[in-house]
Amino acid sequence: MKTPIIAPSILSADFADLEKTFKMLNQSEAEWIHLDVMDGNFVPNISFGMPVIKNLRKLTTKVFDAHLMIEQPERYIHNFKVIGVDVLTVHYETQIHLNRTIDLIKKIGMKAGVALNPHTPVSLLKDIIAELDLVLIMSVNPGYSGQKFIEHSYQKITEAKELISATGSKALIQVDGGINAANAPKLYAAGADVLVAASYIFNHDNPLKAIRNLKYF
Ligand code: DX5
Ligand code: ZN
Repeated sequence: MKTPIIAPSILSADFADLEKTFKMLNQSEAEWIHLDVMDGNFVPNISFGMPVIKNLRKLTTKVFDAHLMIEQPERYIHNFKVIGVDVLTVHYETQIHLNRTIDLIKKIGMKAGVALNPHTPVSLLKDIIAELDLVLIMSVNPGYSGQKFIEHSYQKITEAKELISATGSKALIQVDGGINAANAPKLYAAGADVLVAASYIFNHDNPLKAIRNLKYF
Protein backbone atom coordinates (compact mmCIF):
# COMPACT_ATOMS: atom_id res chain seq x y z
CA MET A 1 0.00 0.00 0.00
CA LYS A 2 1.34 3.41 -0.96
CA THR A 3 1.25 5.96 1.84
CA PRO A 4 2.38 9.56 2.27
CA ILE A 5 5.84 10.24 3.64
CA ILE A 6 5.43 11.80 7.09
CA ALA A 7 7.80 14.59 8.11
CA PRO A 8 7.24 15.61 11.74
CA SER A 9 8.33 19.21 12.34
CA ILE A 10 10.12 19.48 15.67
CA LEU A 11 9.02 23.12 16.01
CA SER A 12 6.34 22.03 18.52
CA ALA A 13 8.57 19.53 20.37
CA ASP A 14 9.97 20.07 23.88
CA PHE A 15 13.24 21.89 23.16
CA ALA A 16 14.44 21.04 26.68
CA ASP A 17 14.31 17.34 25.86
CA LEU A 18 15.01 16.79 22.18
CA GLU A 19 16.71 13.49 22.96
CA LYS A 20 13.37 12.11 24.11
CA THR A 21 11.70 13.53 20.99
CA PHE A 22 14.20 11.76 18.76
CA LYS A 23 13.74 8.46 20.61
CA MET A 24 10.06 8.71 19.80
CA LEU A 25 10.73 9.71 16.18
CA ASN A 26 13.14 6.79 15.74
CA GLN A 27 10.44 4.37 16.88
CA SER A 28 7.84 6.01 14.66
CA GLU A 29 6.80 5.39 11.08
CA ALA A 30 7.89 8.88 10.04
CA GLU A 31 10.51 8.67 7.30
CA TRP A 32 11.68 12.29 7.38
CA ILE A 33 12.30 14.90 10.08
CA HIS A 34 11.36 18.45 9.15
CA LEU A 35 13.65 21.18 10.50
CA ASP A 36 12.21 24.71 10.40
CA VAL A 37 15.02 27.27 10.31
CA MET A 38 13.82 30.87 10.82
CA ASP A 39 15.82 34.10 10.89
CA GLY A 40 13.42 36.73 12.29
CA ASN A 41 13.59 38.56 8.95
CA PHE A 42 11.96 36.47 6.26
CA VAL A 43 9.49 35.37 8.95
CA PRO A 44 8.78 37.12 12.25
CA ASN A 45 9.95 34.20 14.37
CA ILE A 46 13.45 32.87 15.19
CA SER A 47 13.78 29.10 15.71
CA PHE A 48 17.12 27.27 15.64
CA GLY A 49 20.06 26.94 13.31
CA MET A 50 23.07 24.94 12.32
CA PRO A 51 24.65 24.08 15.71
CA VAL A 52 21.38 22.50 16.87
CA ILE A 53 20.88 20.52 13.64
CA LYS A 54 24.49 19.33 13.74
CA ASN A 55 23.93 17.82 17.19
CA LEU A 56 20.54 16.36 16.35
CA ARG A 57 22.16 14.54 13.42
CA LYS A 58 23.82 12.22 15.98
CA LEU A 59 20.42 11.06 17.23
CA THR A 60 18.90 9.56 14.09
CA THR A 61 19.53 8.19 10.61
CA LYS A 62 16.18 9.46 9.26
CA VAL A 63 16.10 11.93 6.39
CA PHE A 64 16.82 15.51 7.49
CA ASP A 65 14.50 17.84 5.62
CA ALA A 66 15.45 21.48 6.28
CA HIS A 67 12.93 24.21 5.47
CA LEU A 68 14.85 27.49 5.32
CA MET A 69 12.70 30.49 6.19
CA ILE A 70 15.68 32.83 5.94
CA GLU A 71 16.84 35.65 3.70
CA GLN A 72 19.73 34.80 1.34
CA PRO A 73 19.70 31.06 2.05
CA GLU A 74 22.29 30.59 -0.71
CA ARG A 75 24.93 31.84 1.75
CA TYR A 76 24.56 28.69 3.86
CA ILE A 77 24.05 25.85 1.39
CA HIS A 78 27.46 24.36 2.01
CA ASN A 79 27.04 24.53 5.81
CA PHE A 80 23.77 22.61 5.68
CA LYS A 81 25.40 19.85 3.67
CA VAL A 82 28.29 19.56 6.13
CA ILE A 83 25.95 19.14 9.13
CA GLY A 84 24.05 16.32 7.46
CA VAL A 85 20.96 17.80 5.82
CA ASP A 86 19.54 15.60 3.03
CA VAL A 87 16.76 17.75 1.55
CA LEU A 88 17.24 21.53 1.47
CA THR A 89 14.28 23.78 0.67
CA VAL A 90 14.53 27.51 0.05
CA HIS A 91 11.63 29.95 -0.33
CA TYR A 92 10.84 31.20 -3.83
CA GLU A 93 10.22 34.66 -2.35
CA THR A 94 13.86 34.97 -1.17
CA GLN A 95 15.41 34.30 -4.56
CA ILE A 96 16.70 36.40 -7.45
CA HIS A 97 18.80 33.59 -8.98
CA LEU A 98 16.76 30.54 -8.04
CA ASN A 99 18.29 28.46 -10.80
CA ARG A 100 21.79 29.05 -9.47
CA THR A 101 20.73 28.17 -5.91
CA ILE A 102 19.03 24.93 -6.98
CA ASP A 103 22.04 23.92 -9.08
CA LEU A 104 24.35 24.46 -6.13
CA ILE A 105 22.19 22.46 -3.69
CA LYS A 106 22.16 19.52 -6.10
CA LYS A 107 25.82 19.79 -7.07
CA ILE A 108 26.80 19.61 -3.40
CA GLY A 109 24.77 16.41 -3.03
CA MET A 110 21.44 17.33 -1.46
CA LYS A 111 17.91 17.15 -2.81
CA ALA A 112 16.62 20.60 -3.73
CA GLY A 113 13.21 22.01 -2.85
CA VAL A 114 11.38 25.29 -3.38
CA ALA A 115 8.72 26.53 -0.95
CA LEU A 116 5.81 28.76 -1.96
CA ASN A 117 4.10 31.12 0.47
CA PRO A 118 0.29 30.97 0.36
CA HIS A 119 0.14 34.00 -1.96
CA THR A 120 2.81 32.75 -4.41
CA PRO A 121 1.31 31.05 -7.49
CA VAL A 122 2.44 27.55 -8.50
CA SER A 123 2.67 28.74 -12.12
CA LEU A 124 5.84 30.70 -11.23
CA LEU A 125 7.65 27.35 -11.08
CA LYS A 126 6.97 26.55 -14.73
CA ASP A 127 10.53 27.15 -15.92
CA ILE A 128 12.27 25.45 -13.01
CA ILE A 129 10.00 22.54 -12.07
CA ALA A 130 12.02 20.04 -14.13
CA GLU A 131 15.09 20.77 -11.97
CA LEU A 132 13.36 20.37 -8.60
CA ASP A 133 13.25 17.37 -6.28
CA LEU A 134 10.50 18.90 -4.15
CA VAL A 135 7.85 21.60 -4.19
CA LEU A 136 6.73 22.76 -0.75
CA ILE A 137 3.25 24.25 -0.69
CA MET A 138 2.81 26.31 2.48
CA SER A 139 -0.70 25.83 3.79
CA VAL A 140 -0.21 28.50 6.49
CA ASN A 141 1.80 31.71 6.49
CA PRO A 142 5.25 30.52 7.57
CA GLY A 143 6.60 31.45 10.97
CA TYR A 144 4.68 29.50 13.58
CA SER A 145 3.22 26.10 14.26
CA GLY A 146 -0.36 25.70 15.39
CA GLN A 147 -2.01 27.86 12.72
CA LYS A 148 -5.17 27.10 10.77
CA PHE A 149 -4.90 25.26 7.43
CA ILE A 150 -5.64 27.45 4.37
CA GLU A 151 -8.24 25.61 2.24
CA HIS A 152 -7.01 27.11 -1.04
CA SER A 153 -3.95 24.85 -0.67
CA TYR A 154 -5.86 21.93 -2.28
CA GLN A 155 -6.12 23.94 -5.48
CA LYS A 156 -2.38 24.61 -5.40
CA ILE A 157 -1.61 20.90 -4.95
CA THR A 158 -3.71 20.12 -8.02
CA GLU A 159 -1.88 22.79 -10.00
CA ALA A 160 1.52 21.51 -8.86
CA LYS A 161 0.54 17.95 -9.78
CA GLU A 162 -0.53 19.09 -13.27
CA LEU A 163 2.67 21.06 -13.78
CA ILE A 164 4.78 18.09 -12.65
CA SER A 165 3.09 15.62 -14.99
CA ALA A 166 3.08 18.06 -17.91
CA THR A 167 6.85 18.56 -17.65
CA GLY A 168 7.92 15.05 -16.65
CA SER A 169 9.38 16.46 -13.43
CA LYS A 170 10.19 14.01 -10.64
CA ALA A 171 9.45 16.56 -7.90
CA LEU A 172 7.61 15.45 -4.79
CA ILE A 173 4.81 17.65 -3.48
CA GLN A 174 5.17 18.51 0.21
CA VAL A 175 2.50 20.35 2.19
CA ASP A 176 3.23 22.16 5.46
CA GLY A 177 0.96 23.90 7.96
CA GLY A 178 -2.22 23.05 9.81
CA ILE A 179 -2.14 19.35 8.87
CA ASN A 180 -4.04 16.85 11.05
CA ALA A 181 -5.80 13.49 10.80
CA ALA A 182 -8.88 15.12 9.28
CA ASN A 183 -7.21 16.77 6.29
CA ALA A 184 -4.32 14.31 5.71
CA PRO A 185 -6.39 11.86 3.60
CA LYS A 186 -7.73 14.70 1.44
CA LEU A 187 -4.25 16.14 0.94
CA TYR A 188 -2.92 12.74 -0.08
CA ALA A 189 -5.84 12.24 -2.47
CA ALA A 190 -5.16 15.66 -4.00
CA GLY A 191 -1.58 14.63 -4.78
CA ALA A 192 0.57 15.46 -1.75
CA ASP A 193 3.53 13.06 -1.35
CA VAL A 194 5.00 14.42 1.90
CA LEU A 195 2.97 15.70 4.86
CA VAL A 196 4.61 17.94 7.49
CA ALA A 197 3.02 18.32 10.92
CA ALA A 198 4.15 19.85 14.18
CA SER A 199 1.32 20.70 16.58
CA TYR A 200 -0.93 17.78 15.61
CA ILE A 201 1.85 15.31 16.47
CA PHE A 202 3.48 16.95 19.47
CA ASN A 203 0.25 18.08 21.18
CA HIS A 204 -1.23 14.58 20.83
CA ASP A 205 -1.34 12.32 23.93
CA ASN A 206 0.32 9.64 21.82
CA PRO A 207 2.64 11.13 19.15
CA LEU A 208 3.39 7.67 17.67
CA LYS A 209 -0.31 7.16 17.10
CA ALA A 210 -0.64 10.68 15.68
CA ILE A 211 2.04 9.85 13.10
CA ARG A 212 0.19 6.65 12.17
CA ASN A 213 -3.07 8.62 11.86
CA LEU A 214 -1.45 10.87 9.26
CA LYS A 215 -0.03 7.95 7.30
CA TYR A 216 -2.76 5.30 7.29
CA PHE A 217 -6.41 6.03 6.64
C1 DX5 B 1 5.61 26.93 9.80
C2 DX5 B 1 6.52 25.76 9.64
C3 DX5 B 1 5.84 24.49 9.82
C4 DX5 B 1 5.23 24.31 11.17
C5 DX5 B 1 4.02 23.43 11.03
O1 DX5 B 1 6.26 28.06 9.43
O2 DX5 B 1 7.09 25.77 8.36
O3 DX5 B 1 6.67 23.38 9.48
O4 DX5 B 1 6.11 23.75 12.11
O5 DX5 B 1 3.31 23.44 12.22
P1 DX5 B 1 1.80 22.90 12.32
O6 DX5 B 1 1.81 21.51 11.82
O7 DX5 B 1 1.51 23.02 13.78
O8 DX5 B 1 0.98 23.83 11.48
ZN1 ZN C 1 8.15 23.96 7.70
